[in-house]
Amino acid sequence: MFETIAKAPPDPILGISEAFAKDTRPSKINLSVGVFKDESGQTPVLESVKLAEKKLLETEKNKLYRPIDGDPAYGKAVREMLFGQGAKLATDGRSVTCHTPGGTGALRLAADFLVQKAGAKRVWVSDPTWENHKQIFAAVGLEVLTYRYFDADKNGLDLAGALAALGKVQKGDVVLLHACCHNPSGVDPTVAEWKELAQILAKNGAFPLVDFAYQGFGDGLDEDAQGLHILLENFEELLICSSFSKNFSLYNERVGALTAVAKTSEQADAVQSQLKSCARVNYSNPPAHGGAIISTILADAQLTGIWQKELTAMRERIALMRVAFVEGLTEAGAKRDYSFITRQKGMFSFSGLSREQVERLKTEYSIYIVGSGRINVAGMSRSTMPALCQAIVSVL
Ligand code: LMR
Repeated sequence: MFETIAKAPPDPILGISEAFAKDTRPSKINLSVGVFKDESGQTPVLESVKLAEKKLLETEKNKLYRPIDGDPAYGKAVREMLFGQGAKLATDGRSVTCHTPGGTGALRLAADFLVQKAGAKRVWVSDPTWENHKQIFAAVGLEVLTYRYFDADKNGLDLAGALAALGKVQKGDVVLLHACCHNPSGVDPTVAEWKELAQILAKNGAFPLVDFAYQGFGDGLDEDAQGLHILLENFEELLICSSFSKNFSLYNERVGALTAVAKTSEQADAVQSQLKSCARVNYSNPPAHGGAIISTILADAQLTGIWQKELTAMRERIALMRVAFVEGLTEAGAKRDYSFITRQKGMFSFSGLSREQVERLKTEYSIYIVGSGRINVAGMSRSTMPALCQAIVSVL
């Protein structure tokens, strides 16, 4: 059976961390995978999470299977985060949520459902997009098409290019949209741009699949949902994939959610039953701990307050690192104006470095970034900034 199996290439993101782990040079810096680090290079467990875990340790009665779609309290908490506290859509039955193993699990569940239960054939993703999107959709047999998104000359959104490409979308095509903190470019549409994008998609009968992996890492929890709200004004049906790896710093708990919005509560109910049947033949039911942490935090005003402060602190540190990075590049002698980096949102900066330059950073300076030139700003620190900037300027 195994004789003909050739070795697979390393994963374009997680594979870099594997290579980093093997690098024995003490000055090595890993700015590949999207993980938040503090000034000392650590990713501490949030205080709100520790307090919630303490509570859980005292009150947890069993380790029984959870429902296929997770605990209802978790689903409601997720929907209130997406649609707003007390929002009608969170509780009126038109939206349903499945607790999934991470945001990746939500994307895969969405993809399985769309192909197996809804007959989807094609999906459009932005160019560029998160490396794993194409792999997930290809794995379920969807044809993956791309729409223009990033304009490298102006380091911003190529709205005209995006609208032109999305004008070719056919009825029933799935279109993947990043709710905020576009990965890898850090470039988000403005409110006016979101409206134009939503309108052309609605006109063509597209089905929006929203990847919401960084809620709270852009401008704030509610501010980051602006694009989603505009989509909801234009569509009666859509799917949303949430990840809580970053905003609760729960990376290895694999906690995410897939939320479906349907025209009626009857349709939502049918969708939920089919999502459950897709989940059952994949991972059966979700890992409970991460979801229980989130439900515990969001059901407790004091813990919610602590968490929101911690989330704000993470967001503000990334903004500070963006400024320090731009200053560092200038001090190291960079000729180009890099101020656009301070306007990008979320964890990443799309540096414009070529694959060759990325390779040189690794071999000559033991600095690891993603092949596309994506740099994890949330992994930078003041102490390593001068060395990082000098290395980047030297390969430019
Ligand atoms: C990233 O883009 O680096 C993160 O979303 C982690 C991952 O799973 O790729």
